[in-house]
Amino acid sequence: MRIPREDLLRDFSLLKMGKLQVFSPVTPGQVSFLLGFFPVFIAWIYSEILEYRKSSSPIKVHSDTSLGSETIKEDDRAILLEGGLAKSSSPKFQNTSVRNNLIRFISMDESFLLENRTVLKAMSEIGAILVYFYVCDRTNLFPESTKKYSRDLFLFIYILLIIASALTSLKKHNDKSAFSGKSILYLNRHQTEEWRGWMQVLFLMYHYFAASEIYNAIRVFIASYVWMTGFGNFSYYYIKKDFSLARFAQMMWRLNFFVAFCCIVLDNDYMLYYICPMHTLFTLMVYGALGIFNKYNEIPSVMAVKIASCFLVVIVMWEIPGVFDLIWRPFTFLVGYMDPEPSKANLPLLHEWHFRSGLDRYIWIIGMIYAYYHPNVERWMEKLEECETRVRLSIKTSIVTLSLVVGFLWYEYIYKLDKLTYNKFHPYTSWIPITIYICLRNFTQQLRGCSLALLAWLGKITLETYISQFHIWLRSSVPNGQPKWLLSFIPDYPLLNFMLTTVIYVFISYRIFDLTNLLKVTFIPSRDNKRLFQNFIAGIVISVGLYCFSLVLLHIPFISG
Ligand SMILES: *[C@@H]1O[C@H](CO)[C@@H](O)[C@H](O)[C@H]1NC(C)=O
Ligand SMILES: *[C@@H]1O[C@H](CO)[C@@H](O)[C@H](O)[C@H]1NC(C)=O
Repeated sequence: MRIPREDLLRDFSLLKMGKLQVFSPVTPGQVSFLLGFFPVFIAWIYSEILEYRKSSSPIKVHSDTSLGSETIKEDDRAILLEGGLAKSSSPKFQNTSVRNNLIRFISMDESFLLENRTVLKAMSEIGAILVYFYVCDRTNLFPESTKKYSRDLFLFIYILLIIASALTSLKKHNDKSAFSGKSILYLNRHQTEEWRGWMQVLFLMYHYFAASEIYNAIRVFIASYVWMTGFGNFSYYYIKKDFSLARFAQMMWRLNFFVAFCCIVLDNDYMLYYICPMHTLFTLMVYGALGIFNKYNEIPSVMAVKIASCFLVVIVMWEIPGVFDLIWRPFTFLVGYMDPEPSKANLPLLHEWHFRSGLDRYIWIIGMIYAYYHPNVERWMEKLEECETRVRLSIKTSIVTLSLVVGFLWYEYIYKLDKLTYNKFHPYTSWIPITIYICLRNFTQQLRGCSLALLAWLGKITLETYISQFHIWLRSSVPNGQPKWLLSFIPDYPLLNFMLTTVIYVFISYRIFDLTNLLKVTFIPSRDNKRLFQNFIAGIVISVGLYCFSLVLLHIPFISG
């Protein structure tokens, strides 16, 4: 008699190894991950041994024993020899076709392993990091502790960080403006990264300490990220005009590679990490807005029509009741989310997606508009700097005064509203604090020219710190759970524990950032669409194959005892 799958899974959920307890059932996705991870890991260890042998033997002999193997055709052999003789260790699969590379991988071809040692290492490292995520979040190997909020401590830690970065990493930049060669840079990269950095730290600390009193500020920060998505992507596509498939694939890889694996290994919905689908959506919208008829982007009236159509799309999708549901219902498998919390169990599956994407539905368009006028503002500011002192000072003073007054009004009448009312106004007002910040951040040349490198460094890895926090800093314990607990390595010492988990967490986030880029360069070639397509197909075939195999494995009754 066949055992129903649910029973089987329930058996798994009781899986215990000694005292180690696993909180959730084993899924086919997790089994596929392990099935893929082990061969790669073994191949990497083997390649390290080969490398060690090669470098320790006095005469460097290319071991081409396996090159003679009959599975490899004559002409491929020539390529392999070339590859072996050329300075290897470049992290790219060169020349040979994907199928051949796979054959060489499966047969553990030595020269192939040596050539691709760095890639195998990176893949093993990502795998190991995911295993660490699982151990921290889904087993009881480490205890958990509860969140506690003290405004005093919260501000102390944050201000300490700002002081530390100001003392150690204040940087003055002499970047030249692209237009005039003068050293004014309005919204330059350092500044945007620094901006991302200090917001991200507050955002993360808000989660760690459950600082619910700054909820409204956090909404503004998220809006700022979406604003930057509009601003950065618009500038890029407008200036570089690079709408190639490779560029597109790289962008999607950057945003979704790691989160996809987190969803598989931790059995979570994509929507748990709502920042990722949201940025993906708005990035796609910017890409679409600029990519369609991109030959005419230089014509101001065409651009005006494009911006107006963006507004129109947003209005139709979010402001007309029912349209959002109609459009997104087919994608529920992707953007549906069910909080396991019983009090939220009766919300519709699309509620979270509607709420999150709706909050920032306009701000990416504002970002695009600012990016469009950016050169004009920059030119205007250059002129302003050349004016005589009296004129300049009075113009600047009035801008600053105006900003402060508007900022105060916004704070009094919008920011101070309670959470639910504030959320209603947020989509229409979030541009106000963002604009004020931009004005104040640049009102003198000195302020514009410097940035805090430590915060900018953190600003580079916002996506990774965002994803990792759920599992190796906080913890959620169950699939799809909001991270309600703290990971605790040193029970009874909350601050020491905070320090230790934070160091590990930031370090791992940085590794993920590097590894994602390395693998991106390896698997998404910039100028070879045929290879890109082959890689894509190979990826799908391998994943589907592993998945089916895992399904079968999980249905073999002996595992359930
Ligand atoms: C103001 O600062 C931002 C970064 O904080 C910068 O990106 C922008 O270009 C600056 N704006 C002006 C008008 O200089
Ligand atoms: C486009 O937006 C995404 C999402 O915020 C970001 O990661 C990426 O760096 C942006 N691209 C450019 C060229 O700024």
